[in-house]
Amino acid sequence: MKTHALVLAAGKGTRMKTALPKCAFPILKKPMIEYIVENIEESRIDDIVIVVGHQKEVLEEMLKDRVAFAYQKEQLGTGHAALAAADALKDSEGTTLIMLGDMPLIPSALIDKILDHHEQSGSTLTVATTNYDNPKGYGRIIRDEYGEIKAIVEHRDCTFEQKQIKEVNTGIYAVDNKVLFEVLTNIEKNERKGEYYLTDIVSLMNGTYPIGTFVIRESHLVMGVNDLFAISVAEKHLREAINKSHMLTGVSIINPETVTIGHNVHIHPGATIQPNTTITGDSEIETHAVIGPNTEIHNSRIRRGATVKHSLVYDSLVGIESTIGPFAHLRNHAVIGENNRIGNFVEVKNSTTGKHTKAAHLAYIGDAKTGANVNFG
Ligand code: UD1
Ligand code: MG
Repeated sequence: MKTHALVLAAGKGTRMKTALPKCAFPILKKPMIEYIVENIEESRIDDIVIVVGHQKEVLEEMLKDRVAFAYQKEQLGTGHAALAAADALKDSEGTTLIMLGDMPLIPSALIDKILDHHEQSGSTLTVATTNYDNPKGYGRIIRDEYGEIKAIVEHRDCTFEQKQIKEVNTGIYAVDNKVLFEVLTNIEKNERKGEYYLTDIVSLMNGTYPIGTFVIRESHLVMGVNDLFAISVAEKHLREAINKSHMLTGVSIINPETVTIGHNVHIHPGATIQPNTTITGDSEIETHAVIGPNTEIHNSRIRRGATVKHSLVYDSLVGIESTIGPFAHLRNHAVIGENNRIGNFVEVKNSTTGKHTKAAHLAYIGDAKTGANVNFG
């Protein structure tokens, strides 16, 4: 049976108070939506439909050939957004995993676990839930006296008693695809908010179809990002996880709380990352390279045994055993050869240097190609 992912990403993200649509907002210099798409691609899901709406071109440009798009013209709520995917999905057999575009931390292994649980349980709908000490803002899980899920009530619609419930809706649902699109058309507008709530599928299916839950213990993995503070929290979780995985593979990171490494950075064992350093984009750091302190590297490759300190390196390459900095700026395809020394207040732009080049202080090298053993005075 096929499994589809349906990701809702049409909202404006009003609480973000930024111009970019929320799901396009970057975390560690990478748009939030790309995390979820990458994680779905690594899971066992067969195809991905993303619902876009507000500034849809921005997301379409980011994800072009990787996913199918559905269009929600007006943002009338998550239930309405899911229904916008009817043309793309409604006739398919199989299971659909609905996810929200504002949960960048969900790992592919967890996606697979939810699907496995759903299939083994025989439920028509499985709601993934989690527990928060402070569940403010999330929809609450309402269970009956037997512990069966009966409904989800949004924070703003909760009674005082319901607000005390710590178990919340993560916004992830595994559901029989055909049943989903039947039920979606029955959702009624929530008069207070003027929106169609996807969460209403639980009460609508209750009594007719078997509904189960999957409780996620590591709640931070499914946090919803709704404002810029939540962006910083998600970024912190991601940074810690990424740094830890590098350290466990043999990368030495000094004072890791001050080091930021992006999702797609490849660092070979034996490299050292010093404090206050940021490495992002498609960057690669080879073994025995020493990066930092106080260094920023983006979309660049630092070769074996090279040193970069107190410097900026963008879209560039640093050759084997070369030393960069302090206070150098390499950008726009600077290709530094082997055993170079590029130092104090030197900028290199769109240039290639040969072996054993020295530009130790106060120089600008632009749009140039130099041979070996050149010394810039
Ligand atoms: C939603 C859930 C809530 C859950 C929480 C988990 C509903 C009604 N509420 O609340 O129960 O606890 O997520 O994080 O589902 N979107 C659209 N079109 C719209 C509205 C939203 O595509 O018309 C998209 C947004 O881009 C976003 C996602 O749906 O990616 C969720 O919307 P958001 O406003 O963040 O919902 P929450 O209030 O967080
Ligand atoms: Mg949200």
